[in-house]
Amino acid sequence: MLQKGLRAGILILGAGPLLSSCSGIRRSSLKTSDILPDEIPELDDQSIAVLHFASLAPSGHNSQPWHVKRSNRFEWIIGANPNRRLPEVDPQNRELLLAIGAFTENLSLAASVYGFDLQVQVLASKTTEEEILKVILKKGKAGTYPLKRITSRRTVRNGFKATEIKSTDIQKLMKPLEDNFRYFPSTSGDGKRLAEWAIESFRDQTNRDHAQRELAAWIRFSDKEAKKYRDGLTPESMEITGLSGWYVRKFMGFKDVMKKSFRQRSIEGVAKIAKQGGGWLLITSPGEKVADLIETGRNFERMFLLARDYKIAIHPMTQMLEEEKWRNEVVKEYGSTTIPQFVLRVGYLNKYPNPVSLRRPVSWFLKL
Ligand SMILES: Cc1cc2nc3c(=O)[nH]c(=O)nc-3n(C[C@H](O)[C@H](O)[C@H](O)COP(=O)(O)O)c2cc1C
Repeated sequence: MLQKGLRAGILILGAGPLLSSCSGIRRSSLKTSDILPDEIPELDDQSIAVLHFASLAPSGHNSQPWHVKRSNRFEWIIGANPNRRLPEVDPQNRELLLAIGAFTENLSLAASVYGFDLQVQVLASKTTEEEILKVILKKGKAGTYPLKRITSRRTVRNGFKATEIKSTDIQKLMKPLEDNFRYFPSTSGDGKRLAEWAIESFRDQTNRDHAQRELAAWIRFSDKEAKKYRDGLTPESMEITGLSGWYVRKFMGFKDVMKKSFRQRSIEGVAKIAKQGGGWLLITSPGEKVADLIETGRNFERMFLLARDYKIAIHPMTQMLEEEKWRNEVVKEYGSTTIPQFVLRVGYLNKYPNPVSLRRPVSWFLKL
């Protein structure tokens, strides 16, 4: 019954046939039965629904680094899948834990709608441990959080307006993060500096062979590959559409990503978009323990989910926190009391586009 409701919800929220033969595979191309398997013998419909919503969280390279082990119906262990780490750009699992925080937030919001309060207990004391947290679902009063926010959130990289973000909108966005949220308009000195660092750190990372090889391994060029893995970056999610998208899907592959011409074009693309938009958000955390990263990931996701209501695009530009030289610069400038965790380019959009990045079905990340 609940699964039926969820299926209907997903259909209303945009599932349907491919609109144009020029489009690559995107979330709406998948049949609802591909997204939600008919049944997972070990799982009830509510749990499948809640975990599906959780999995719509963002993650670096769309690596979806989570797995879930159920101790019993109301007690789950959320873990980090060691095969989904990004050792070249995220050797300490900092971003992995932020993504697991975002996953946990979606899980908590979805569970609340089904009438459960979530108790979260951090298990890991080191960022490299596999078992990260235990969640306990306690029966409570059903909440009214709009799940559409979760199904329609996405990373947007293009089409940002130059307009500054209104202070009333900033006030609303910063609520989940309070003192760990700073906004710099793109015309300010800080805004200009962050744009420059975004470009230069991207250039350095793109020229670092190991990091580029790691990225290449997460690009799903063809629709067939994307459908097989249901993770990583697709031409659609990288916003390479139309004829260029068709060309990339049809003719490009792993080796091309390592070529000088591909790297050069990527750097030029980033240099163009880094200067677009209304400004930059810097998200920080008070500490860098596992619990701090989970908490920051949760609050970041709550903010991200709100942004669409105000037609504000969010684009993490993380290379300056990944490349040591640039991270030191960011910490020197902005990290005197708190630790920088996200640098996000933000801007108003004329229209917030539908999500396109794919997700692995629940049964694929369930650890039995
Ligand atoms: C910790 C973290 C770091 C990210 N870094 C980048 C980045 O540097 N550049 C970028 O374009 N997207 C970045 N993203 C966005 C992911 O690529 C995106 O969440 C993923 O592809 C899934 O797409 P979706 O957010 O539209 O669901 C990052 C996301 C997270 C959670």
